[in-house]
This record gives sequence, C-alpha cells and structure tokens, in this order.
Amino acid sequence: KKFGLQEIVAHCKEYGFVYPSSDIYGGLNAVYDYGPYGSQLRQNIKDYWWRAMVQAHENIVGLDASIFMHPQTWVASGHVDAFNDPMIDNKDSKKRYRADHLIEEIYAGKLENKIAKEIRKAAKRFGDAFDEQEFRATNPRVLKYQGQIDSAIERMNVFLNAEDLAGFKGLIEELEIKCPVSGTGNWTDIRQFNLMFSTQGGGSLGDNNLYLRPETAQGIFVNFNNVLNSSRQKLPFGIAQIGKAFRNEIVARQFVFRMREFEQMEMQYFVRPGKELEAYEYWKEKRLRWHQAIIGGENAHRFHNHEKLAHYANAAADIEFEYAFGFRELEGIHSRTDFDLKAHQELSGKKLQYFDPELKESYVPYVVETSVGCDRMFLAVLSDALQEDIVPDADGKESSRTVMKLHPALAPVKCAILPLLKNKEALTSKAREVFDRLKYSFQCQYDEKDAIGRRYRRQDAIGTPYCVTIDFDTLEDNTVTIRDRDSLEQKRVSIDEVERIISEKVDV
Ligand code: GAP
Repeated sequence: KKFGLQEIVAHCKEYGFVYPSSDIYGGLNAVYDYGPYGSQLRQNIKDYWWRAMVQAHENIVGLDASIFMHPQTWVASGHVDAFNDPMIDNKDSKKRYRADHLIEEIYAGKLENKIAKEIRKAAKRFGDAFDEQEFRATNPRVLKYQGQIDSAIERMNVFLNAEDLAGFKGLIEELEIKCPVSGTGNWTDIRQFNLMFSTQGGGSLGDNNLYLRPETAQGIFVNFNNVLNSSRQKLPFGIAQIGKAFRNEIVARQFVFRMREFEQMEMQYFVRPGKELEAYEYWKEKRLRWHQAIIGGENAHRFHNHEKLAHYANAAADIEFEYAFGFRELEGIHSRTDFDLKAHQELSGKKLQYFDPELKESYVPYVVETSVGCDRMFLAVLSDALQEDIVPDADGKESSRTVMKLHPALAPVKCAILPLLKNKEALTSKAREVFDRLKYSFQCQYDEKDAIGRRYRRQDAIGTPYCVTIDFDTLEDNTVTIRDRDSLEQKRVSIDEVERIISEKVDV
C-alpha cells in the first residue's frame, strides 16, 4: 500500500528527511529544511541529473550563476511586467486563493469527488461486471459533473488569456452559488500579484531593487557569450545548471511540491533557428526516459502538451507525475525561441549571437529548455517508493513493514553495517573494520543499537538497499550476510566481495 501525502510528511519528519523550516518557531509557510537523509537523497538526485545531462553529453557544459542578478535581467526576461498570478481573497473567511487554483482545485475537486462517489457506488452494485470506462462514458450524472468541470476550466482559460479579471471574478461568483467553497461569496476583486521576492541593495549596489531569481534560466542566458567564448562549443550545445529559485507563491501547499524557496535543475539547449522543434521532440523523449529509468512503471508519468503558450514559447509540454494528489507537473520542456537572448541583447546592447561556420552568418540561436524541480523530483521519488508491505518475520509469521523501495542509486544510505550483537567486542570491531573499508566507496551507516530485526526495519524505512551483518561465523571464515531490502533474500558472501556486489547495484 502506497502512502498518502500526510503519511509521507509524517514519515519525512520522523526519519530525518524533511522538517518545517525554523521548526522551533512554529515553521515558515511553504519553506522546508532537509534533514540527514533528505539532504543526501536530494544530493543523489542532483548527481543523477548532472551525470545524465553534463557528464554524458560532450556538448553540454555546466554553470553555477549567482542568485542575485542585475535588475535589468528581470526587465528583459519579462518577469517584472508579467510574472504574475491572479489573486483573490474571501472577505469573510479571510482566506487567500490563486484565482485559477480556486476553480481547478476546489470547485473541480468537489465535482471530482462526486464523480468518485458515483463510481464507488456503482462498483459495489455491479461487482466484477463493473467497467469504469464504460460507466464514465455513459452515466448521465458523471457526464453532467464532468461537463461542468470542463466548461468551468475552459471559461477560466478564456478569461485568463484575455486578462479579464472582472470576468474571471464573475465566473467564480457564479460557480460559488452552485458549489460553495467558503459558505459565502463575499470576494475581493482579483488582482495581479508579482511572484518575485525583492530586496534592497544599498552600498556600492546603489539603491536598486534586487530580486531573488525566480528561475535559474536567466543566469544561463546572460552568460551565453562567456560560455561560448571560453568552452570551444559549437551549436547545438547546452548549458546546464542546478540552483535555488524563489517565488512568492500566493498559496503554497502540498508539502515540497510548491514552495517559496526551491531548487531547479535546468538546461538550455542552443540550436540553429528552425531546428528548435526537432530538438524539442528529442529532449521531450529523452527526459521522459530519464524519469522512467529512476521511477519504474510505464504509467507513473505522462506528457501534458500546452495549448496555451507563454509569451516566449512556440511549443511547451510538462512531464507530469502521479502524486498522491493526482497528476501534476514535474518537469517543463519549453521551446523558448530566441526570445530571451534577443531581449537581453536589446536591453544590454551586447550582441548575443553565434557565427555559424557552415552558413557563414551570425544569428541569435533558438533555445530548448528542460527544467525540473529537484524538490518535486524528491517528492515523486518518495511517493513512488514509500509503502507498507507484508513480509514474513523472524518466526515465519506475517507482519507489515514500512519500506522505501527507491532506486539504489538514489538511496541516502547504500549499505548498513550491522554487528549481530553490540556487547561483543569481537563483532563490533570487525564491523567497524568492514565499515572503514567500504566508506570511501559509497555512503554507509554503522548501527549496533537494538535487536537485528528492528535495525533491518529502520533501514527499510529509510530505503537502504543492503544490510551487511557481521556474526560469529564472520570471525571464523571472513564471510558476512548481505540482505536485500526488496526481496529480503540473505546471501552469505566473502567480505572481499561486498564492495563489488553493492557498487554494481548502486551505480546508474
Ligand atoms: N525556466 C523555466 C521555468 O522556471 P517553470 O515551469 O515555472 O519553468 C520549472 O518551473 C520547474 O520548476 C517546474 O516543473 C517544477 O518542477 C519546479 N517548480 C516551479 N515552481 C516551483 C515551486 N514553487 N516549488 C517547487 N518547485 C517548483
């Protein structure tokens, strides 16, 4: 049985994966700290991305640009003018909503609950003969609710496209009558809210308003010439970067899915104009395969192709993952045209061009971007991996355990070294010897506290793929048992073989 969101949150706190930020002061909304295992897991996710993108491509290079950038950056990129979300407050409940989320998540959510109820009722009635597809397609009540959801979302998009905030508010009020979300319909007007955090420079920075970057991508664009001139790359080539980004999200919930401070792993791929859609298709497929290699199952991910495009894009798609709260965006792939480089060229007065030796001409390259949130990836990995399963215990009886079945390459601890008993010096010193031998190859953990069964359970709960146990036979013949987290199989092997066996499994 997979975990729901609340169970994931509780597990993360109990086992040292994620804590609320500044916990002793009651936390800070939508800001989180990663604990001992969480920070290691995140590091492993970033390494996996970096190796796949930078190390494995001779035409992709890395960059680590700063978070603060010249304020003009955000004028050129369009963020000062257009990085807004529509916000609305309920005057009675004093609750604040992102206006589009209000419709999608609350209104549509309520109707979707009604649909789910109909389906549950019918499934009970028809038993084995129940066909959900057919029921959805033919049941008049389901069709009515689905129709209401579709039409509300369609109308919402029309108002959003036209930036008709009064029309948008009218739609919310109309829906509120049919499907109240707050008891009353006493709403403020909708206003556009800029999502960038700003801070004052001062000193030699002058009085400029500085922004905390809302995406890492712009650090790549403004460094285009620097990288081109110093890295001997020819088009097509990419620049990849991992780093923090900040957004003052109006409503941030769903744990680390939507945060105010988060981390992005982005790559901008520069191509000859006209080649961008080919590159876009290539990266869409390649990024999907990257996800599938680490989170199993063909059906955990899906594409969502955007019909409504951002001002800078000529094609865009999300790779969505099925979280505990439904399919949501995990990664964005955007064909960004030459919008960003051109805008920076215009505002800075510096040419951001490439001389194409084949065509013998200079041009502003087109860009395809892949952008995945490290924290969303973290939540996807945990959502997929955390589960309760039934296993035989030491006396062969069945018992349930919490286990995190994540890919060994991502596991925070690869191998636990466990002396059978803690009060037998010969066992503990042998176990420490094994630990010291393995610790330079991968992350190990020495643990001697509690009975061996409890120690196994603890390692299962943090996702450790292998437990190595040192017992009395070890002292005789230099062999240990290796226990596999998923199959629970225990094999006796020579200590000399342990490193090779585990290394083979934990490398991607
Ligand atoms: N440079 C393009 C860009 O920033 P985006 O779709 O706004 O595009 C890219 O963000 C990715 O960053 C998203 O797919 C998501 O994984 C992650 N992301 C965006 N906002 C986030 C937030 N508030 N909290 C956590 N991750 C976020």
